[in-house]
Order: sequence, then C-alpha cells, then structure tokens
Amino acid sequence: MGELGRVVVTEEQIETRVAELGTEISRDYADRRPLLVGVLKGAFVFMADLVRRIDVDVEVDFMAVSSYGAATRTSGIVRILKDLDTDLAGRHVILVEDITDSGLTLRYLRKVLLAREPATLEVCALLMREDTGARGGSVRYVGFRIPAGWVVGYGLDVDERYRHLHDIVAYEDEGSEAVGQ
Ligand code: IMP
Ligand code: MG
Repeated sequence: MGELGRVVVTEEQIETRVAELGTEISRDYADRRPLLVGVLKGAFVFMADLVRRIDVDVEVDFMAVSSYGAATRTSGIVRILKDLDTDLAGRHVILVEDITDSGLTLRYLRKVLLAREPATLEVCALLMREDTGARGGSVRYVGFRIPAGWVVGYGLDVDERYRHLHDIVAYEDEGSEAVGQ
C-alpha cells in the first residue's frame, strides 16, 4: 500500500495548459477535421477538457490498452482491450495519451494506427517523463514534463484508484524504489 504525496501539477496549471494545447491544435488544424483518439482509461478526463478547448470541427474515438495491469511497473506487453469504431484511412489523427513513460505504449500504438493509413498522425500527451523524452518518438503536443515517480489524479490511476482527483499528485509506493520505471 502506498499513499498520496505532494501535488505535482495543480488543477489551475492543468486548466491553463489544456487551454493552450487546445488553441495550438485549433490553429494547426484550422483547415482540417481532426479525429482525436483517446487512450482509455487514463486519458478520459484530459480528452473531455481538451475537446472543449478546440474550436475547429473535431471528432473523438477511444481505444483501450493495457500495459501495466495492476502494477506500477511496465509488464513490457501492450494489449488492445477495446479497438476504435472509426476507419482511420485518410483521417488526420491525434492520439491523446495521459502520460508517456518508457514510450512502449506509444510506440506500439503508433505502429498499429499507422498501418491503418491515416493522412497524418500526431501525438498529444498530457504528461511526459523528463528523462524518457526521446523514447516515445516525437510527441507533437506535450502538457507537462514531470520527474520520475508514479503520479495519480486527473484520470491517472494506481490500481484503478484516484482517477477523480483534480490535481496530479505523487503516489509514494512504500517498499518500491523503482516506481514509475
Ligand atoms: P509507457 O508504455 O511506459 O510509456 O507507459 C504509458 C502508460 O502507462 C500510460 O498510458 C499510463 O496508462 C501508464 N502510466 C505510466 N506512468 C504512469 C503514472 O505515473 N501514473 C499512472 N499511469 C501511468
Ligand atoms: Mg493506466
């Protein structure tokens, strides 16, 4: 059992940054209708806020993947638990992730989605671990870069808990020095 630690990103900081990302995406996609693909479950809160800050015509779809199970360490295996309903061929896709850590999930999803021949594919991640930036490949839109350590809240969980918190908060898992690795 672990416990909640310090606030890493406040609700106010999130609100400001999500608005900036929405503005940026609206500008970049001014003449296109992007399809935002949210990665469940972690990105559901971010998606809901982000789409409401985008003022071009936008569509949403979701897929669910699992790479950790109930652990806070990667299993090294990514599974598709729920696939998209939308045909990606010729679409301008923006993959919306809660956090990219090792980059494993992102690399896998990029490969799967590119095989469906979208016109363009970009990634928008709310959080990115500072020391692992290069491993996820290029992420076009990044909310915040955060240091090592597991975080919860604003959609992010530990074993399905704490998704409802408004802030992004450190989770200190006693007995595990390598949390988040
Ligand atoms: P990666 O495959 O190592 O890049 O891990 C990415 C996925 O692991 C994310 O989509 C999250 O679902 C999950 N994840 C990684 N770090 C955290 C964290 O600190 N809190 C909650 N979920 C995390
Ligand atoms: Mg998760």
